[in-house]
Amino acid sequence: MVSWDPTTYAQFTAERSRPFDDLLARVDVAAPAAVVDLGCGDGALTATLARRWPSAAVHGVDSSPQMLERAAEHAAAAELAGRLTFAEGDLGDWKPDGRVDVLVTNAALQWVPGHLELLPRWVDALAPGGVLALQVPGNFAAPSHALMRQVAAEPRFVPHLDGVLRGVESVAQPATYAALLAGLGCSVDAWETTYVQILDPAGEHGDDAVLAWVSGTGLRPVLDALDAEPVLRRDFLDSYAELLRRAYPRRSWGTPMPFRRVFCVAVRQGGAA
Ligand SMILES: C[S@@+](CC[C@H](N)C(=O)[O-])C[C@H]1O[C@@H](n2cnc3c(N)ncnc32)[C@H](O)[C@@H]1O
Repeated sequence: MVSWDPTTYAQFTAERSRPFDDLLARVDVAAPAAVVDLGCGDGALTATLARRWPSAAVHGVDSSPQMLERAAEHAAAAELAGRLTFAEGDLGDWKPDGRVDVLVTNAALQWVPGHLELLPRWVDALAPGGVLALQVPGNFAAPSHALMRQVAAEPRFVPHLDGVLRGVESVAQPATYAALLAGLGCSVDAWETTYVQILDPAGEHGDDAVLAWVSGTGLRPVLDALDAEPVLRRDFLDSYAELLRRAYPRRSWGTPMPFRRVFCVAVRQGGAA
C-alpha cells in the first residue's frame, strides 16, 4: 500500500480543492441524510460536505492511517461532532451500512485498479434520486507522469521500480464513465477540464514546484519503493527534477502546470433523495 504524508499533500490546498468544489457545484441535493466520501484523504474536503449539509451524517473512508490521523482532527471540530466520522477501509471492498444519498470520490479512483467494476455496486448503494459524484486526474500522459515513467525505466532503477507506476489505463475517459453510469439507469453529467495551475507564485519551491506537487501524490509509489535505497532515491529525484524543470519552467509569476481532470455526476433515477 502507498504511504501518504498529509503535510506534503496539503501544500497546494487551493489547487487540490478547486476540482472538488467544481464537482460538488454540480450536485443538486437539498438535504441528504447520508453522505459518503470514498478515498477521503485527510478529511479536509469531507468536512466541507458536513458544513454544506448540516442535517447529514457524513462518513469518510480511506486506506491510509496517516491521512485518517489528520482526518480525526476535523471530526473533532465542535460544530461537526458526531456527524462527521471516518473509518479505515479499502474502496475495493467498501459496502454501505444503509442507503446513501450522496457518494463522493475525489482524486482517489486512479489508485484503484479496475475501479469501473466497483461502480455498479456503488450505484446500487444510492437511494432513489441519490448522486454519485466522481473526479479523477486525467493527466497520466502529461510530462509530469510520462517523465516519471521514463526515469523509472532506466536500467539502474528497473530492479526497484518495475511495475510500480501505472499509466494512462489508471483512469477512463469521461465518455466511458458516462456510458457505464447511464447504462446503470442514471442520468449523467460528464465533462473534462484542463486547469492551468500556476504553482507556487511566491517561489518557495524554487524551480521545483512540480516536483513538490507530485511528491504529495503521483510520486508516492516511487518514494516508497526507493525508501531503503537513499543514494538511488537521490539519483532518481535529481534526474527527474532536471527533466521537470525543462518541461515546466518557472516564470517570474509562478510555474504553470496544465492539469486535466475528468468529472462525472450520476443521479440514480426514481425520486428525490
Ligand atoms: C490524492 S488523495 C485524495 C484525497 C481526498 N479525496 C482529496 O481530494 O483531498 C487519494 C486518497 O485515496 C486513498 N486511497 C488510495 N487507494 C485507496 C483504496 N484502495 N482504498 C481506500 N483509499 C484509497 C489514499 O489513501 C489517499 O488518501
